[in-house]
Amino acid sequence: MERLDKILVSQGVGSRREVQKLIKKKSVTVDGDLILRPEFKLDPEESEIAVNGQALSFKKHIYIMLNKPAGVVSATKDNSQKTVLDILPENLKRKGLAPVGRLDKDTEGLMILSDDGDFAHKILSPKKHIYKRYFARLDGGLNTEMIENFKNGIELSDGEICLPAKLEIADKNSAYVEICEGKFHQVKKMFLTQGLSVIYLERVKIGGLELDGNLHRGEARELTNYEKTAIFIGK
Ligand code: URA
Repeated sequence: MERLDKILVSQGVGSRREVQKLIKKKSVTVDGDLILRPEFKLDPEESEIAVNGQALSFKKHIYIMLNKPAGVVSATKDNSQKTVLDILPENLKRKGLAPVGRLDKDTEGLMILSDDGDFAHKILSPKKHIYKRYFARLDGGLNTEMIENFKNGIELSDGEICLPAKLEIADKNSAYVEICEGKFHQVKKMFLTQGLSVIYLERVKIGGLELDGNLHRGEARELTNYEKTAIFIGK
C-alpha cells in the first residue's frame, strides 16, 4: 500500500506539490471514488487511478533512452558537475532512477536509465553477453592485426585481461568496437595498448537496441516495450 500522492509523482503526473493540488481540486479518483486526501493509501497494482477522468496505466518501473551529450557525468549525484539525471525532463524523473552502466564525461550516445535493478543487472553482467557497441575515432592508423588482438582478449597495461571483443575498422582512423563488460575507461585503455588514443567516443548500440537517430543529444524518452526486449535479442 502506498500514498496516492507518492504514486502519482512516481508515474510522472507532476511534482509532489502539483499532485497534491490536483487531489485537492477534486481531479483524482480511485476506483471511481473521489479522493481528497493525498495520504490516502492504496495498492496501485490493484486499484484504478484516474486523473481528470483519464485512467492511469500504472507502471512499476521506468525505462529511459538518453542520448548523452559530452560534458555530463553518468552518476546520480555530483557536487560540482551536471549529471545525466540533472538533464532529464521532470516527467521522466523517479526515485531510484540510475544510469545502467557508465559512460565517461566526454563520451556521447546511448545511455539507458532505469529504476529496475534486475533489468540493469541483466544488461551489465558480462555473463549475460550483452554487447555494447561504440564508435571510436583514433589519433592514428588502425590495422587488421588489431582485430585479432581484440578478438583474443586485450591485456590492459595494469595486467587486467579483457574478454574477447569485436573490432570493425570503419576507415583509417575510426572503428566500431563491441564489448560485453564495462571496465573503467575500457575502450580507451584497449586502444592505448595498441598505441592509439581515442579522440572521440560514442555508444551506438546496447544488445539489439540502437540509439534512436531522431533523439537529439541531450534528449530522452521512455523505451517502448519492443525496445526493452530488443536489448536482449539479436545481441
Ligand atoms: N569505454 C571507455 O573508455 N569510455 C566509455 O565511456 C565507455 C567505454
